[in-house]
Amino acid sequence: MPPSAEAQAISDRLADLIAAEIDAGGGWISFARYMELALYAPGLGYYSAGSRKLGRDGDFVTAPELSSLFGRCLARQLAELIGHGLRDVLEIGAGSGALAADLLPELAALGQAPDHYYILEVSADLRQRQQQRIAERAPQQAAAVQWLDVLPANFNGIIVGNEVLDAMPAHVVRMHGGAIEEAGVVRGSGDRPFARGYRAAGGELLKLATALSLPEGYETEIQLAARAFVTSFARRLRSGALLFVDYGFPAREYYHPQRSSGTLMCHYRHHAHDDPLVLVGLQDITTHVDFSAMAKAGTSAGLAVLGYTTQAQFLINCGITDILGETPAADVRAYAPLASQAQQLLSPAEMGELFKVIALGKGIAPPLLGFQRGDKSHTL
Ligand SMILES: C[S@@+](CC[C@H](N)C(=O)[O-])C[C@H]1O[C@@H](n2cnc3c(N)ncnc32)[C@H](O)[C@@H]1O
Repeated sequence: MPPSAEAQAISDRLADLIAAEIDAGGGWISFARYMELALYAPGLGYYSAGSRKLGRDGDFVTAPELSSLFGRCLARQLAELIGHGLRDVLEIGAGSGALAADLLPELAALGQAPDHYYILEVSADLRQRQQQRIAERAPQQAAAVQWLDVLPANFNGIIVGNEVLDAMPAHVVRMHGGAIEEAGVVRGSGDRPFARGYRAAGGELLKLATALSLPEGYETEIQLAARAFVTSFARRLRSGALLFVDYGFPAREYYHPQRSSGTLMCHYRHHAHDDPLVLVGLQDITTHVDFSAMAKAGTSAGLAVLGYTTQAQFLINCGITDILGETPAADVRAYAPLASQAQQLLSPAEMGELFKVIALGKGIAPPLLGFQRGDKSHTL
């Protein structure tokens, strides 16, 4: 389905803005900068303009959009930590507010309502949607929710993010003619406003890419922004835990010789493809997460890895089967949709294996509930 005239007009303005930045940058900008503008340019980027992105009538479905089972399970992990005195929760990149709207009533029901539920969200448009959704779905807990504009200098508590690290601008590198190059974006021609252009990589990117010993012709991503993001949270955490759920692998799998064209993906109306230079600002652009790099970013800033496992194992450890069992199977109308959602969250063919959960923390002794069985931290 082609974009509406209104959406196309926003996309054209965004393309002009990116083109102007390419010209000002001497004809080239890094792919990471392109991705940042395409997703987050104020008022124009994919996450910043008003289109509906998440959910069945958007471009892709995340676990909290798919089912309240996800938030209800995660609540059990948070309840355990809140019970250990970590009384504040900070959610990063809360999307439509679905996770917060499931977590808050469930935590209250478990007798572990947090003192504060902070949300850090870059998109002004999504922030508004979050406020609306929480007011509708969790009215009794809404007063505990506060939106932050910047990271707090110090934080004691639990930081949680679902599908946030994959949405951070990624740098792209390739091995070409025996040298490491960085992918960028240049002006295109005809009906393609932009094209790829490569330059010699430098600095931190070159150092990290060199350490990967990439074979000739291999192209992949290095998530400098996501690493920096985890590091900055880790540095601010006085005591507590960071919990991230996302799709990805440890470095050994991420940079496997057979994954020679990387993990970059785009989503437009539930259609997945690999061309980020079309539908500028109208489609999601993501990369898989290198969980070894996230673990390293945390541990270099003084955190310990508290657990790492698949989403399926995490949800099972948190009691998804008990939660499902609360609805009698004989009540087919209520049970059938829940069972089908559980299947999508758990099945290895869907989200169960590709999605992982990592917990990093300070001042907390493992094991945590969600990693009690099947912890795969040793693979990081
Ligand atoms: C793929 S969506 C996931 C939304 C939601 N967590 C969910 O699971 O449905 C990515 C979210 O991260 C937000 N985001 C990206 N970078 C961010 C940053 N640096 N700080 C805060 N939020 C960010 C986006 O605006 C968006 O809300």
